[in-house]
Amino acid sequence: MSSDSGQAIDTLFQEERRYPPSAAFSAAANAKPDIYDEAFESFWEREAHERVTWFEPFTSLYEWNPPYAKWYLGGKLNVAYNCVDRHVEAGRGDRVAYYWEGEPVGDRRAITYAELQDEVVRCANALKALGVGKGTAVGIYMGMVPEAPIAMLACARLGAPHTVVFGGFSADSLADRLNDMGCEVLITQDEAYRRGNPVPLKTTADEALAAAPSVRKTLVLRRTGNPVPMTDGRDHWWHELATDGSPCAPEPMDSEDLLYLLYTSGTTAKPKGIVHTTGGYLVGVATTHNYIFDLKPENDVYWCAADVGWVTGHSYIVYGPLCNGATSVMYEGTPDFPDKDRWWEIIERYGVTILYTAPTAIRAHMKWGPQYAAKHDLSTLRLLGSVGEPINPEAWVWYHEHIGGERCPIVDTWWQTETGMVLISPLPGITTTKPGSATRPFPGVDAAVYSEEGNEVGPGGGGYLVLRKPWPAMLRGVYGDDQRFRDTYWSKYPNTYFAGDGARIDHDGDFWLLGRVDDVMNVSGHRISTIEVESALVDHRDVAEAAVAARADALTGQAIVAFVTLKGGVEGSVEKLEELRNHVAEKIGPIAKPANIVFTPELPKTRSGKIMRRLLRDVAENRPLGDTTTLADPSVVAELQDRGAAETHDD
Ligand code: WTA
Repeated sequence: MSSDSGQAIDTLFQEERRYPPSAAFSAAANAKPDIYDEAFESFWEREAHERVTWFEPFTSLYEWNPPYAKWYLGGKLNVAYNCVDRHVEAGRGDRVAYYWEGEPVGDRRAITYAELQDEVVRCANALKALGVGKGTAVGIYMGMVPEAPIAMLACARLGAPHTVVFGGFSADSLADRLNDMGCEVLITQDEAYRRGNPVPLKTTADEALAAAPSVRKTLVLRRTGNPVPMTDGRDHWWHELATDGSPCAPEPMDSEDLLYLLYTSGTTAKPKGIVHTTGGYLVGVATTHNYIFDLKPENDVYWCAADVGWVTGHSYIVYGPLCNGATSVMYEGTPDFPDKDRWWEIIERYGVTILYTAPTAIRAHMKWGPQYAAKHDLSTLRLLGSVGEPINPEAWVWYHEHIGGERCPIVDTWWQTETGMVLISPLPGITTTKPGSATRPFPGVDAAVYSEEGNEVGPGGGGYLVLRKPWPAMLRGVYGDDQRFRDTYWSKYPNTYFAGDGARIDHDGDFWLLGRVDDVMNVSGHRISTIEVESALVDHRDVAEAAVAARADALTGQAIVAFVTLKGGVEGSVEKLEELRNHVAEKIGPIAKPANIVFTPELPKTRSGKIMRRLLRDVAENRPLGDTTTLADPSVVAELQDRGAAETHDD
């Protein structure tokens, strides 16, 4: 049997539930239905004037020499000025920018926009004293402390491009990034807190610096206060150096000046330095943040529960929300410290109205059970968001019911480090949502689904997600590697951005993301996406989380192997295994029935919470494991390899 011609991925899963917005939400929403009617040019021109203050106006909207785009040409602006100073100048200095909650219970700070301005200036003056100026590359290796956004903003104020390296990365990963960018200064901290334990950031940074000779100076925040080694002449304490609060003028930057590099930590070995510039990026993140999160800056308490080390943190903890004058929550630690209700306690304490998190976190809460959320008053919540992976419909519905009290719209936002801003998402108040669908391209975004040959796949069919027009926050390249930029994103189809994700568009025009294309399986000639089989498994009442991978099979080409985490208290058994296989057959069809199911307490994930199906394929095939450097917890696969061997089940 072979799949239909013209369709790169077969799609089998059907989700029928619909969630229209309430009339009250629609009436007050920032986005009105006619937003979809505005022409691309006028939309991005108007938003640029509305969201951002320009020192000098731009003279042309954009220039497109594929694969390179420029936006807001001739415009001059400063990102830190837009995110901080202008709110203070407008008399909003007393508004809280961040409610910060440390991991140790009771450790709290509220930082107003006026205080943020003062701290950013002090940090910028300290960096100046270390020789940082316009164009000096700065590394930032910190935990979730307010000084992380402060450091980013201080760099932006001086026109010094930064690269933030997630605090969970090793010395080698840190050194690679510092070397690739040629960083001269590193901002770090003594230690971070994670699940009650100190994480030795400074010691790891020292190890990295031994292999990163371009770094001349460090600025070190004291967080835990435990003693750490300091190298004379190179290392400086933040609290000693960042004391000068005298004015430090924000550097006027060109729209296309480099704002930051962020290295993608995907599944391949050498990370790519994704280039983001100033004007288009700021307009893109502020505009999407305003409409997708329906932000009312005077009333909302917004919480993006990502880490600043990922693009979600850059765009939707720091630059987007601050540009819009939002009040945000920032939390330092893990969701289960000291207990599994920590998030819900935080929401109750600050009256959080908007929560943005990832499917992996939602599934963890599902696994723990709804009793933790039920202990707290979550009635202030009015909007929920999801990002990072396709969300399984059952996780969506759980989120809607147990966290959103069945009243909050959910925005399932598709985007990437490379796209800089959300590109596909519902607009709350307009979109009728469907669990598992990211629904519509954002206004001004031209997304489509292509077949292998580059033809548009019709409604219902699966294929590859592409973008056909540039957008303001798009990547401006891979740092120092033009060829890799062209090969990775622009070589599959002419002048068209290839996202590397599978997708289908249904008969209403809504997009369903099907996962990374390398994860597609081929069973008896059917190209089946991993997410559909996983969602069918998670649909079963006993399943908290599932990941599937393919192994070679003499008969069917590939056979599906499922790795399943059951909900707390449920035991794996041969009967349970049969029940789950039959459940998949009922939900999708017998073709998608897993040949093997392996029960496991944990799935292998990257540090940003994405399931690493590549490693599961190695386990399924009984192969030696490929690169495991991006794995959050290496012991998980070792255990899976044992179980895979022990519990193999075949038809
Ligand atoms: C996946 C995170 C389905 C996708 C902002 C993408 C999603 C990759 C979604 C980028 C979503 C992100 N639905 N898949 N709503 N959001 N993804 O660079 O595979 O960490 O290509 O950026 O995450 O991950 P990144």
